[in-house]
Amino acid sequence: MKSDMKPRLALIPLLAAVLFTITNARADEPSVLRQVMQALGSDMQVVTGGIAREDWQLVAKTAPLIAKHPQPPLSEKVRIIRYMGAEMSLFKALDGETHQAALELGKAADEQDGAKVIAAFGKLQQTCLACHQRFRSGFVQHFYGTDK
Ligand code: HEC
Repeated sequence: MKSDMKPRLALIPLLAAVLFTITNARADEPSVLRQVMQALGSDMQVVTGGIAREDWQLVAKTAPLIAKHPQPPLSEKVRIIRYMGAEMSLFKALDGETHQAALELGKAADEQDGAKVIAAFGKLQQTCLACHQRFRSGFVQHFYGTDK
């Protein structure tokens, strides 16, 4: 009796580890969008640095990375679409505004027009803010169960 209880008991930590992994993975989803956002955040910092040094080439090179940021994989998109429901079209429209504003920023940088670059950068930041104010906290609550 004792000798065949042991292997079964030994499975308990394994099962616990598997469950922990599964629940943790769920709590961390969707993570690709967050990575995309973090990349957008650092691209914006590169742009700020470029503006400070009047390095319009750097700004012109970085703006398209913001405009054409990668998208999460299909499986994650499906979860986002399911969560957004009817709001998905607004979410997409706001993403489109960021895309458009980043293209404008790139154009201004190509023209090496400092004032125009700064105005375009401000507009771009407003498009980030618009989506964050509307969606971020609900999104984070829903997918991570946390406030931030
Ligand atoms: C269409 C909506 C939308 C737009 C536009 C948008 N974001 Fe986000 N952003 C989100 C959502 C949703 C989150 C929360 C994602 C998460 O925590 O998984 C987020 C989170 C972030 C974060 C925090 C990431 C972290 O580690 O918690 C940063 C930084 C960020 N965005 C930068 C930007 C920048 C910069 C722009 C504009 C160039 C931008 N975002 C435009 C929806 C958007």
